[in-house]
Parts: sequence; structure tokens; C-alpha cells
Amino acid sequence: MHPNQQIERWLAASRESFSQHERPFVTLSYAQGWDGSITLRTGQPLALSGEESTRLTHHLRSQHDGILVGIGTVLSDDPQLNVRQWSGPTPPGPNPQPIVLDSQLRIPAAARLCHLADKRCWVLTSRSGVELVDSSLEIITLPGDAEGRVCLHEALRELRRRGIRSLMVEGGANVITAFLRERLVDALVLTVAPILVGGYKAVGDLGIAVKAQLPRIAPVFNSRLGDDVILWGNLHYEEASS
Ligand SMILES: NC(=O)c1ccc[n+]([C@@H]2O[C@H](COP(=O)([O-])OP(=O)(O)OC[C@H]3O[C@@H](n4cnc5c(N)ncnc54)[C@H](OP(=O)(O)O)[C@@H]3O)[C@@H](O)[C@H]2O)c1
Repeated sequence: MHPNQQIERWLAASRESFSQHERPFVTLSYAQGWDGSITLRTGQPLALSGEESTRLTHHLRSQHDGILVGIGTVLSDDPQLNVRQWSGPTPPGPNPQPIVLDSQLRIPAAARLCHLADKRCWVLTSRSGVELVDSSLEIITLPGDAEGRVCLHEALRELRRRGIRSLMVEGGANVITAFLRERLVDALVLTVAPILVGGYKAVGDLGIAVKAQLPRIAPVFNSRLGDDVILWGNLHYEEASS
């Protein structure tokens, strides 16, 4: 079976056994070099995925109700977050709902996410009393966390209320780290490109000092797409029993 189909089936089964109803099932998916870097330095785009892995990313997008990135990624990559690259006999899957974490409403009016043909991008902010800056955006005001950033637990509750049952989180590093710190990632699909970047790492301080409490992935699956290695598995946060 092609890896895209394997991952699709595994995701469907993982979602099936997901028992929480107050938030969406969360899949974290990003690309890194062999050294764990996602780009040279923050604010700078770097295409790491090969052609087939890029198609996998678009395939995965179509398997989720929503797709979320941080404002740092919007400012550096100007992504569209839709399904454009596709292979196989079936037509492309649907576009997910694009969502941006943007506490201070820094999203520029010229961003491609402000000009999508079929969707109004949802912008999650913790700034209150803000008028709608662009009719192509829907501003959703939520409580802030201790640092004034959008509270992820509140954000996920609100997304679930709005019908988002599955959410793909694509980055960048601050967002990846924040979701992991809050134990809000259920599944991980990682593309490892055969390059050493020596740059900006995907995962920062998780605030955990004990090995048994670090998030673990099990079972572990892997495959090759071109020269990229794809790793995928479910996240577990419980303390190991042995
Ligand atoms: N290789 C890959 O797969 C991949 C994928 C995505 C991005 N990238 C790269 O990653 C870089 C961007 O990463 P980044 O770490 O600078 O930015 P980021 O993670 O995309 O965005 C971080 C920003 O999101 C906002 N935010 C709001 N609520 C948050 C919360 N609860 N937790 C964390 N952040 C929250 C914060 O800005 P405010 O305080 O202003 O709200 C924060 O600074 C770019 O260079 C991009 O090219 C690579």
C-alpha cells in the first residue's frame, strides 16, 4: 500500500478511538532536516520536503477539518494552507478550514490567507475590542495564557464548538512546542529530509526534566517517499510504568 494510504487509514483509526469530545483530534505534521531544523532561522522560509512528501502534506490537509499555523509562519512563508498537490486516481480532497494563532493581530492584509477563493481564514487572537480588519478574515477573540498568547485549551474548545473535529498543526516551532507542552498533540507525521541545516529547531523546551514524563511515540511507523523518510505514530504522555 502507498504510504499516503497507510497514513490515511492509520489516522482514521486513531481518530475513531479518540474519546474526547471537548476538543478536536490534533495531528502535528512538519518537515525537518536530519538535525531537527525546520528552517535556517526563524522568519526565513526553507522548502525541505521533496515532491512526494509535499503531496503527502496536501493529502493530509484534505484529511482534516482544520489546519493551523502560528503568525510567525504566515509572516515568513505566506502559506495558502489548501490542497493543491495531489496524486492518485481520486479527485483532490476538500480544503480544510485555515486557522492562524495571532494574539496581536499582526496578519497583513496582503497575506494569501486573506485572499482565499473558498474560505474565510479564522484568526485566533487574545486582543479584545478589535474591529474586523478584513472581511476575508473571521476574528475570534479568546482568553490569553499567562504570557498573553492565545490559550490553546480555549482555542481547541472553541474550534470543536465550531465543528472542527480534526485539526492539523503545521508549525512553526513556537506553535509545535506550545502544543507539545500542553499535551495537545495526538498524532505526529514527520518528514525527515536528507539535509543538515544547523538552524532553527522544531521542538523547544517542553518544561519536563524527567525522561519518563517526556512525550513518547508508539507504535512507530516509517516509510520512504523519494529521499525523505516519513515517520508517524501516536503521542503518549503518561508516565512510563517500567
Ligand atoms: N519545516 C516546516 O515544516 C515548517 C513548518 C512551519 C513553519 N516553518 C518555519 O518556522 C518559522 C516560523 O516559526 P516560529 O516559531 O517563528 O513561528 P510560529 O510558531 O509559526 O508562530 C509563533 C507565533 O504564534 C503566536 N501565538 C499565538 N498564540 C500562541 C500560543 N499559544 N503558543 C505559541 N505561539 C502562539 C505568537 O505570536 P503572537 O504573540 O504575536 O501571537 C508566536 O510568536 C518560519 O521560518 C517557517 O518557515 C517550517
